[in-house]
Amino acid sequence: MVLAGLGAYLPEEVVTNDDLSRVMDTSDEWISSRTGISQRRRAAEGQTSLHLAVEAGREALKHHGEGTAIDAVVVATSTPHRLCPATAPDVATALGLGHVPAFDVAAVCSGFVYAAATAQGLIAAGTARTVLVIGSDVFSSFLYPSDRNTRVIFGDGAGAAVVRAGDHDEPGAFGAFDLGSDGEGSDLITIGGGGSMPPSEDAPAGRDQFLAMEGREVYRRSIPGMADSCRVALDRRGWSIEDVDVMIGHQANIRILDAVARNLDLERERCYVNIDRVGNTAGASIPIAMTHAHADGAVRAGDKVLLTAFGAGLTWGSTTLTWPELPTI
Ligand code: COA
Repeated sequence: MVLAGLGAYLPEEVVTNDDLSRVMDTSDEWISSRTGISQRRRAAEGQTSLHLAVEAGREALKHHGEGTAIDAVVVATSTPHRLCPATAPDVATALGLGHVPAFDVAAVCSGFVYAAATAQGLIAAGTARTVLVIGSDVFSSFLYPSDRNTRVIFGDGAGAAVVRAGDHDEPGAFGAFDLGSDGEGSDLITIGGGGSMPPSEDAPAGRDQFLAMEGREVYRRSIPGMADSCRVALDRRGWSIEDVDVMIGHQANIRILDAVARNLDLERERCYVNIDRVGNTAGASIPIAMTHAHADGAVRAGDKVLLTAFGAGLTWGSTTLTWPELPTI
């Protein structure tokens, strides 16, 4: 499977740390130093993960170039347009892609890596030759208005990649994926209500419709989780950490990215960061970061790139790719 196009979409409204400190007990100093985030985007009222996914998907199709049929659409989202049906069929229709297979993957912050692995499977099985893989999340709809624990971190956004069948040694080729999960940590980041589980009697009325996060524990587990997963993905590719030109990690928290880099013995300069501008965009984080890294010139044709993510579920995943020649964005 080969990377053949990228795109991202961020909603217009910018929410700065100062904006948040006007409505809750926090400060720009606290948020910047603890998370590395300066601002994040918020979707407009009525703008959902579907709308963001369509915009990012359109950008990726443009970047890839007109004329190649898309055979499948996989949307990574944990904040779908609605609980049922999936968001992906609406995305495919809105983009005029015809009656292609389209489905969602729910792996929260690891969602894009899981969705890309799924696309690799569809391509390897001969079910599809070219797949549009999108990560789109609008967590702002699920953040409790006074919860400073989550509101300072999460931002809305979508990113997309076109991937196609190709040789394992051609520019843009992905390696094997490492994927994993640990359901024993499923309560650490959760929206408890809204599923088929009866409402919790312990939760204050309506509170379980919002995201709850035990930040410190997630933080503690994410560092070895991502680093170990990176080692497996590198090993499967036959690369060592010295081979890696750029790590594009899930933008959860700058301190997590720094600690993962330290754990791997990877210099900080080789670790791409855009969390300051976008916050933690969950399943959209990696394709937005890939798009921004390409646009910024932080990753260049021929670079060896490591992708890694960790998040709710708990889930994690990593893979490798060589960066292809792609048009500038
Ligand atoms: N603004 C100001 N102060 C805050 C605050 C905020 N938004 N949130 C917590 N604090 C305070 C706490 O009350 C506490 O004060 P105290 O020492 O007086 O008791 C202090 O800051 C430290 O709180 P703690 O919760 O231990 O902070 P932390 O250093 O663990 O940082 C997170 C909190 C959420 C930023 C951090 O745990 C984190 O990033 N975790 C991972 C989250 C994540 O990545 N989630 C998504 C996974 S994909």
